[in-house]
Amino acid sequence: ESIYVGVDLGGTTIKVGICNEKGQLLEKYEGATEVEKGVDTVIANIEKYVRHIVEQSSYSWDQLAGVGAGLAGFTNVKEGIIILAPNIGFRNVPMRALLEERLGKPVKIDNDANVAALGEAWSGAGKGIDNCVCYTLGTGVGGGIIINGKIYQGFSGMAGELGHISVVPDLEAIQCGCGKMGCLETVSSATGIIRMANDAVERGDRTSLALVEGKIMAKDVFDAAKSGDEVALRIVNRASYYLGKSMAAVAAVLNPERFIVGGGVSKAGDILFEEVRQVFAKLTPEPLQAGVQIIPAELGNDAGIVGAAGLLLRS
Ligand code: BGC
Ligand code: NA
Ligand code: ZN
Repeated sequence: ESIYVGVDLGGTTIKVGICNEKGQLLEKYEGATEVEKGVDTVIANIEKYVRHIVEQSSYSWDQLAGVGAGLAGFTNVKEGIIILAPNIGFRNVPMRALLEERLGKPVKIDNDANVAALGEAWSGAGKGIDNCVCYTLGTGVGGGIIINGKIYQGFSGMAGELGHISVVPDLEAIQCGCGKMGCLETVSSATGIIRMANDAVERGDRTSLALVEGKIMAKDVFDAAKSGDEVALRIVNRASYYLGKSMAAVAAVLNPERFIVGGGVSKAGDILFEEVRQVFAKLTPEPLQAGVQIIPAELGNDAGIVGAAGLLLRS
């Protein structure tokens, strides 16, 4: 039996997991990324954790068929190069070659949200369907496009950057981390929601958010909205509105069967999903919305490691 190790490379932790060829997650382990120590240390840590999880398991190193890794940022998948990944401080790092040399196994890398989308398609909310589009709403807004069961890569391997679709009208737009104006990420990420909440409090809007002790979190905003706070509800609706609007655009281009929404912000649940579905219904031509579903992701934090392992089999 062959095994595949998936790596979820984040700013603070590196998660690794062993999957079988059905996409079942058999073992998990995580350790520190140690970004502050630089590229070489991060790469060495990945090697260390991958070797460790296999050694601890009942499988042998020979059974390991390959390693896949996902990380937040712009990745050139074909060349295996990380072009820009701000939260791990990587710029033009040939990660695939570096890891292949250390591990002596085939390695594939991809964007975190592409990988999460593949995980969901393989063994989560997209199981059994061929075409779906996934959003990950966290610190940023990530996206992944699955066509015929595989990640759609585009010209230079960067397709699916759904968080950087410009959706906010010019007069209301603010600058995104990517440098451009009005990106979906500026309003539908946890960061965007928190910013809107802080703005409201600073403006002196009448809201229970002013009473939150310490820093306001996205969850505080959802909780306030659920208990009828109108300012919080407006913020949640704004995040939902632009998400739904972006889906209408994506539906017109790709006609996916399902939109899958994961990441911390998706835990808001119905208050988010119902509005997104309404906006999508309002803005999408009838024939393009018939039968299309907008549903929550299923794998939670494991989507990254499962999908990364899946890179070896499904890309
Ligand atoms: C980045 C994406 C990433 C997403 C989620 C965005 O800001 O541009 O590459 O997938 O955040 O981490
Ligand atoms: Na992506
Ligand atoms: Zn952007």
